[in-house]
Amino acid sequence: MTSLRFKASAVVFASINTLVVPPSRAAHSNDSLPHLLHQNGRHELIVDGAPYLILGGQAHNSSAWPAAMPNVWSAVSSIDANTLEVPVYWQQMQPTPNTFDFSIVDSMIKSAREHHVRLVLLWFGTWKNGSSHYLPDWIKAQPEMCPRIIGKTGKRVDSPSPFAPALRAADTTAFRALMHHLKVTDLEHTVILVQVENEPGAWDTIRDYSPTAEKVFHENVPDELISALAKEVDPALKPRAAKGDWPTVFGANADEYFHAYWVAHYIGEVAAAGKAEYPLPLYVNAALRDPLSHPAAGTYESGGATDNVLAIWKAAAPAIDLLAPDIYFDDTPRYQKVLELYARSDNALFVPETGRHATNSRYTFAALAQGAIGFSPFGIDEATTLPASGEESAANRAALEPFAVNYRVLKPMAGVIADLAYRGQLHAFVEEKGAAESQIVVLGAWEARATFGPSPRGLGEHRAGNAEPMGRILVGTLATNQFLVTGYLAHLDFKPVDSSNGLQREFVKVEEGVYDNGVFKALRIRNGDETDWGLGFDAVPAVLRVTLGTY
Ligand code: DGJ
Repeated sequence: MTSLRFKASAVVFASINTLVVPPSRAAHSNDSLPHLLHQNGRHELIVDGAPYLILGGQAHNSSAWPAAMPNVWSAVSSIDANTLEVPVYWQQMQPTPNTFDFSIVDSMIKSAREHHVRLVLLWFGTWKNGSSHYLPDWIKAQPEMCPRIIGKTGKRVDSPSPFAPALRAADTTAFRALMHHLKVTDLEHTVILVQVENEPGAWDTIRDYSPTAEKVFHENVPDELISALAKEVDPALKPRAAKGDWPTVFGANADEYFHAYWVAHYIGEVAAAGKAEYPLPLYVNAALRDPLSHPAAGTYESGGATDNVLAIWKAAAPAIDLLAPDIYFDDTPRYQKVLELYARSDNALFVPETGRHATNSRYTFAALAQGAIGFSPFGIDEATTLPASGEESAANRAALEPFAVNYRVLKPMAGVIADLAYRGQLHAFVEEKGAAESQIVVLGAWEARATFGPSPRGLGEHRAGNAEPMGRILVGTLATNQFLVTGYLAHLDFKPVDSSNGLQREFVKVEEGVYDNGVFKALRIRNGDETDWGLGFDAVPAVLRVTLGTY
């Protein structure tokens, strides 16, 4: 279908719909663009030259339309998010092979600026949740251009085959056009990050078994993959041979690794073209597999960036800056394990989607303590009937309120928290169902332990637990013996690690205050009833700067 492919970038950009395209200006240097810093195996997102924490919310899938956006903006305001994650639909953006319509992107950017919010754009291109339902109509009308996977039994699977050169070329052209459009129009860097595709991979099959795929499966595994994986310590990833076809090199894992590699390779090409145009940080989100039970391939979405194939994705798609888990588990061991698995020295942790149950709000702190650059519940708006009213229901507000509480407390000190995360100086305590008391954690010279449960601020140790596991505490080490502490329905206290000579904890000073431009401003000193039993937090969290000593 070469006639459908754009042959040169000059042709592509000449065809861009000129709805709101100001003249190109050389306003971006790569340093001024949003970018990631990396140091000692940790990562930080920099926006406008300063550390940035994505306190996000993601819109529902069909909400990025002007008629639906009022509800989205209303939800963004009520959860106090600083960033909105919102789709860009290929189907809408390229209505004909030679036309691009950026009107929705433009109006999104304009509204985001009016709301003082940044954007993460989600490119719903070839893959959306393992299918390809967002292809432009003119591509859907040419099934030969978008081959679906053929499953092991010969059945057609509703998932795009990664062996689709014409589709990949078209996706590359469209994504490059989007990035070009951002480069020439978004001079304020309202868009800070772009997701390439959405939860790519395939459900209902481990890989494509079409004749084309079979042929590639029995060709040599690319050298770049073999040499990248030769360094892996995980025996499952280690190549069994220095050369050979997929079964020879990867044995029983060949089917899954093959699909992961070729999906990643396809997306890596799309991403590289976009990045060459405008080098914003790019990521791919993943539907997860159970991180604790090592389930069999085929029981989860195959080919996406699941925890077992991150190294394959890194090798196949170097233009992708990070691989991000969509976390819909809600039990603490699984949630925590996912955070650990995706926080790697070669991968900045970012949680672009999480279930919006109130109890998941406690994992905002857990993610930050693991070094995350951001966190976002999915589906913050009410995807109800059109036109949207911009009025949220009480139920929607109530469901999101516990996330809003986090954002309200974190937003004024987001840069400080991002820096503490970058330096590995954050620790989170999250309540586990049925456990009203945390493990003891050593922070410098101190043993810290949280207890959970509702209680008036500061009074008593709240050992009863909350009816639902909502409690959380975030502790940042500011200096030796000085901590930044915030929390929700929880309580924290410290003991000296060295208690051999009878030393006891002394609150030298517990200042309650706010950050203003990165500087802590005390509003009062907590003492007496408010500290005699430790540090208590109710549903209106406070920020404490705590200086400890001994007596
Ligand atoms: C994960 C996907 O990435 C989202 O777009 C959405 O489909 C949710 N699942 C489910 O609502």
